[in-house]
Amino acid sequence: MSDFLWWRDGVIYQIYPRSFMDSNNDGIGDLPGITKKLDYLVDLGIDAIWLSPVYPSPDADFGYDISDYCEIDEKFGGMKAFDEFIHQAHTRNIRVIMDLVINHTSDQHSWFQQSRSSKTNEYRDWYIWKGKSERNKLPNNWQSRFGGSGWEWDPTTEEFYFHMFAKEQPDLNWSNPKVVEAILDMIKFWLEKGVDGFRLDVFNAYYKDEKFRNNPFKLGLPKFDQQKHIYDIDQPQMFHFLKEFRALLDSYPERYAVGETFMGDFKTSAHYMGNNALHAAFEFSFLNSRYKPANFYQAIQQWEDELAQVGWPCYVLNNHDVIRSASRYTKSEDDGRLKVLATLMLTVRGTPFMYYGEEIGMRDIPINKKSDVLDPVGRVFWPFYKGRDGCRSPMQWNADKNAGFSKEIPWLPVHDNFPWRNVAKQTNDPKSLLNFYKKLLKIRKEYPVFQNGMYMPLTYDPKKILAYIRQSNDQIALIALNFNKKEVALVLSSQLLKDDWKLLISNKRDTVPKIFDRKITLFGNEAMVLLKQDHQFSE
Ligand code: GLC
Ligand code: CA
Repeated sequence: MSDFLWWRDGVIYQIYPRSFMDSNNDGIGDLPGITKKLDYLVDLGIDAIWLSPVYPSPDADFGYDISDYCEIDEKFGGMKAFDEFIHQAHTRNIRVIMDLVINHTSDQHSWFQQSRSSKTNEYRDWYIWKGKSERNKLPNNWQSRFGGSGWEWDPTTEEFYFHMFAKEQPDLNWSNPKVVEAILDMIKFWLEKGVDGFRLDVFNAYYKDEKFRNNPFKLGLPKFDQQKHIYDIDQPQMFHFLKEFRALLDSYPERYAVGETFMGDFKTSAHYMGNNALHAAFEFSFLNSRYKPANFYQAIQQWEDELAQVGWPCYVLNNHDVIRSASRYTKSEDDGRLKVLATLMLTVRGTPFMYYGEEIGMRDIPINKKSDVLDPVGRVFWPFYKGRDGCRSPMQWNADKNAGFSKEIPWLPVHDNFPWRNVAKQTNDPKSLLNFYKKLLKIRKEYPVFQNGMYMPLTYDPKKILAYIRQSNDQIALIALNFNKKEVALVLSSQLLKDDWKLLISNKRDTVPKIFDRKITLFGNEAMVLLKQDHQFSE
């Protein structure tokens, strides 16, 4: 498989470093902890790790407020631990993607400290400063995604600065070429260190309207959603930066960038992909899909159509900002539905992004009182929105104290289900979700049709079944997913009828299903993958 390209054909696994493994028992996960668990990831079968931010941060937004771009926080083990981590990952053929959070810095970053110190400081226009408008009001109507106006009054110099997120996260002024230069230098620093790629946090918000016009009104809630974000997001200048950024990446072999499209849909995401832009941009429809074939079918179809020949799709069911799929789709501890979705994620055309703990079906921890909330967003919007702590709880390794994550009290509680829902237990259970994921990951790697085969929907019933074909020159795979609790028949077209399929995986049976009366009968919540190799297929 010499043409295997890691970011296109492989699987990327997101780690939220605070919560993966704590090596020094201070309750916070760290890089030596992740390094210790690399062999687990090799065994799981992933190809790359996306690390949520590990730079120094005062943690107003848990790492997404960075106070030094070219260092690693001591709480994660510092630069030495990072170098060791990346070395050990590469030794195991695992790539490493860093989170780039460059729409804003922390208010503790020395650039901002200088910027706010006086109007004449050389860093003043590295951030977005504005005086009061004529009638003594805010500069314009722009809002913060984390609640309230986006403008914060700074008494020292008597001006407002703009922050799209928390007030501890002032937005950089991207119209200042010095900022762009400093950022590109910093990116180069990490490329030189051997980092394989980047995930760009809210990249389409970097540039703002030069005239700072008010956003027009639309219906919605909260206030941030009461505006059409035509002046504070998706400004055309972004493409100049992306071109430069991409040229820098391309001056190193096999480097990659995926963007987190902020407030956009699949069309917005596709727009930012290409040879002079990003390799990939997230498309978040799966996060909003109900457990219905119609939803997933449509999400795939619209993304396939939009990208056509121009871009490579990627898919995500979980990340550090949303309720975990296990909690979205199941109220119980049953993993039936999760096996169906795992099969979808790992056999559809595109790069799958997994999130730590997804492979053992981790559920969100319950958030019961406001005083327990650590996520700044949860504190603002409580009780309407409880924030994102739920999906960030410690990885459940085994049934020991604190799920084997740490000997001390973890920064967020471990889920109550850890004594039976953990890696050790599921490793020993052949029917576990973990072993199902491992098998799928292995199949995906072994049969190139899952990497490069074209995608063709076969049939779908809005409430029950989703079936599709992946086909390459010499392999054809049939993926049949029954979203229903009851048996459902899948009708096959004549070219698929011959009884020469090989069963690659099913969560409900061990032998190839019989084709009877042009149909295969799927068990309730069955996920099945069948394969034909060329000699069988091509007559
Ligand atoms: C992105 C991150 C989120 C963070 C925000 C501000 O949406 O995924 O976790 O709070 O940007 O940096
Ligand atoms: Ca630690």
